[in-house]
Amino acid sequence: MVYQIYVRSFADGNGDGTGDIAGMRSRLGYLRDLGIDAVWINPWYRSPLHDGGYDVADYREINDQFGTTAEAEAFIADAADHGIRVLLDLVPNHTSADHVWFVEALASARDSDARARYHFLDGRGPDGAEPPNDWQSVFGGSAWSRVADGQWYLHLFDESQPDVNWDHPDVADEFDAVMRFWLDRGAAGFRIDVAHSLTKAPGYPDAGLDVNDGKGTLHAVPYLDRDDLHPIARRWRRVLDEYDDRMMVAEAWVAAERRPLYLRPDEYHQAFDFDLLSAPWDATQFRGIIDDSLRAADAVGSNSTWVLSNHDVVRHATRYGLPPGIEPALWLLDGPHDLLEAERGARRARAAALLTLALPGSMYVYQGDELGLPEAWELPLDVLQDPIWHDSDHTVKGRDGCRVPIPWESTGPSLGFGEGGAWLPQPPTFAGLAASVQETDPNSTLLLYRRALELRRERLRSGPDLDGVVVWLDLGADVLAFERSDGLRCVANMGDESVTLPKGEVLLASGPIVGHHLPPDAAVWLG
Ligand code: NOJ
Repeated sequence: MVYQIYVRSFADGNGDGTGDIAGMRSRLGYLRDLGIDAVWINPWYRSPLHDGGYDVADYREINDQFGTTAEAEAFIADAADHGIRVLLDLVPNHTSADHVWFVEALASARDSDARARYHFLDGRGPDGAEPPNDWQSVFGGSAWSRVADGQWYLHLFDESQPDVNWDHPDVADEFDAVMRFWLDRGAAGFRIDVAHSLTKAPGYPDAGLDVNDGKGTLHAVPYLDRDDLHPIARRWRRVLDEYDDRMMVAEAWVAAERRPLYLRPDEYHQAFDFDLLSAPWDATQFRGIIDDSLRAADAVGSNSTWVLSNHDVVRHATRYGLPPGIEPALWLLDGPHDLLEAERGARRARAAALLTLALPGSMYVYQGDELGLPEAWELPLDVLQDPIWHDSDHTVKGRDGCRVPIPWESTGPSLGFGEGGAWLPQPPTFAGLAASVQETDPNSTLLLYRRALELRRERLRSGPDLDGVVVWLDLGADVLAFERSDGLRCVANMGDESVTLPKGEVLLASGPIVGHHLPPDAAVWLG
């Protein structure tokens, strides 16, 4: 069970409105009590924060706003004392434009070695005034920007994030060294950013399609899911294997049938399964995703990963409150906002937590999920910081709404996030969802997560190893019901009618059970 910390928004130890390592250290007791095994920390390195830290200026230094390298080391040690391991976020597809390599590249001649660490090309058309090809940035617009001497450089994300060239030997050597730097300081391993990108097809051919429209096969795109990614993964695996018990998890947005390639025994230990992030509240779709994921992981001796939310998507408590057919990321700006059934979304989010926490494999929980936080969809446009808002020409609101600081208390200028304000405003609903409020409410989402994690741990300790297999029980088309090899049964009602539960002791329920009937939008564990 891995808990994702978005440093900027977790806890602010010095009252400057931005989360930091001091704040994280002060909340380690909370994380231990929640019952997690590890944290994954979004990038905490030196960065101008144009993309929330995914624009790294120095991979060995901590961002000034977050703390110091000494504090980072102390955090890793303190976390270990709390029984928590620390995964870091490695960003190997691009650096910040402020990275010393890119500064050097800009100051160097066209054919220089410094430029060869990135993708610098001449443009097309008269005077080379057109980008070298048709590749589009994930955030919007061309993936190429022009520099003063007329050449263009590639950035699959914001223009402040130039892609590095994985054909240049310095690049691979540097990332090996960065890994060792943090492994030597006790990191348990890495979440690898954009693991399905990194390498680009020789000759930079046109992609010929708008990759970002979600259609087509990513594998066919000249810069995605390429076969030459795998030697890089194997190289990293060898570095990790120099140490005891370290791991890496790939952020690889690839088709389910391609995921096992990343999970071969000498590559990644895990790869995120993101299919639930885009799945509507629908039993058939959930079941298909669960089956595919268990099968794919089993085929290569890995285990599944379950992800309901992260810092890049609309929080699931809000997604599940929207009608089918609405694209949440577009709804944020376009509305209509009265379509949202917030309470229904909150109920479903609790049910989804019980459902996924019952499955064999690893759960990745995004900070605030355990409080049932909704998306802060009301954020005013003038506070937005996500580069998507700018790069999409103000057509996509972006990801700030899932990155709003955590409410720890029900009062105070930033609801206990820190002594001062918060870098993004918290919506009024956050006060009632504060951790301190939920601590004392036996029906709260926080206590539901705690109890679920406690039971999960007890059963994993005392029961047989979970072997990745679940046996489906037939309780109707809108009901997901399965039994695990240790005998635990989970029933989730995703339909509109109550369901009669099979016999068994109710160990945990996401909402009130009436008699032995499970109402819609609820889930239960039976022993
Ligand atoms: C994926 C990260 O999760 C996202 O937040 C970031 O914008 C891109 N990679 C670029 O690094």
